[in-house]
Amino acid sequence: MLNAKPQADRPSLLLRGVRKTFADVVAVNGIDLEVTPGECFGLLGPNGAGKTTTIEICEGLTAPDSGDVELLGLNWRTNADELRQRIGLQLQETQFSEKMTVEETLRLFRSFFHRGITVEDSIKTAQLEEKRSARVGTLSGGQKQRLAMACALVGDPELLFLDEPTTGLDPQARRNLWDLLDRLKQEGRTIILTTHYMDEAERLCDRVAIMDHGRIIALDTPPRLIASVGGEHIVEFAATSRDNRDGAVDPALLTAIDGVESHRLTAGIHQLSVRELHTAVPKIFSVLASQGLHLDEFRTHSATLEDVFVSLTGRNLRDE
Ligand SMILES: Nc1ncnc2c1ncn2[C@@H]1O[C@H](COP(=O)(O)OP(=O)(O)OP(=O)(O)O)[C@@H](O)[C@H]1O
Ligand SMILES: [Mg+2]
Repeated sequence: MLNAKPQADRPSLLLRGVRKTFADVVAVNGIDLEVTPGECFGLLGPNGAGKTTTIEICEGLTAPDSGDVELLGLNWRTNADELRQRIGLQLQETQFSEKMTVEETLRLFRSFFHRGITVEDSIKTAQLEEKRSARVGTLSGGQKQRLAMACALVGDPELLFLDEPTTGLDPQARRNLWDLLDRLKQEGRTIILTTHYMDEAERLCDRVAIMDHGRIIALDTPPRLIASVGGEHIVEFAATSRDNRDGAVDPALLTAIDGVESHRLTAGIHQLSVRELHTAVPKIFSVLASQGLHLDEFRTHSATLEDVFVSLTGRNLRDE
């Protein structure tokens, strides 16, 4: 079946000083990146951060204005044919020929590669058995996405680029794709993916780079990035008072609480990163009570990569 042979001696992907400008938009603003063989690497960031441009530069679809790109020890200038045989890619949006069937589409893609898996195996991998004879134009969005994944895998790639592979998939199809990616990782393949789903990045990626405005603003393993927020838990609340309608709280009173690492106020919601909930929460309540404030909203969650983005930029990923 699938049979990848990563080269352990050199990075699967190496970017140095990569830049790309479209008219007056700097889409990628000097990126350095090294992805090791067998790694699952995630690119995260809000809309327009430059993830697709970066990945398309890696895939040889967009030429960078400057910088070096090396994949599997090769480059697009001198080794394009070999690279096309050894990588698999799923674009953010793929336009297939609507009149062709699923099976015909996969047969066509399989014909582009000297070696690979059988069309039958790729249909099975993407769980498209029931749709093998359906015309592509009749597939649902999620089914098209799975067909794109099958096309990315049919050449048995060592290095796989997936641009938002689970966007538009239902929860079950999403989990199935996670299981598939786990298997591809176990086979030693290198995977580079973009996603807006923080839980997905935490679950799948060995390391992630958080991008914003064309730059990498943080790069590490998900647990280390989350630890960098300073507290394991996030407490969010909104408060009002009878005499002071906006419910203002002096941030110094909150950050003075033992175990509270940081405070931020966004759109009326106070957000604290906290080491231990059971000791900090009662103290937060008593500070609010001492100020004559009562809670309108209160919630806690374990810190996530989303909180990392907020702590780095002061913005929510979803606000973009
Ligand atoms: N072909 C193009 N022509 C002009 N501008 C472009 C082009 N491609 C990308 N851009 C711009 O470059 C910036 C980065 O876009 P890119 O598609 O790389 O972002 P992204 O991080 O993939 O976003 P999303 O999460 O929405 O997919 C955006 O401002 C976008 O408008
Ligand atoms: Mg994109």
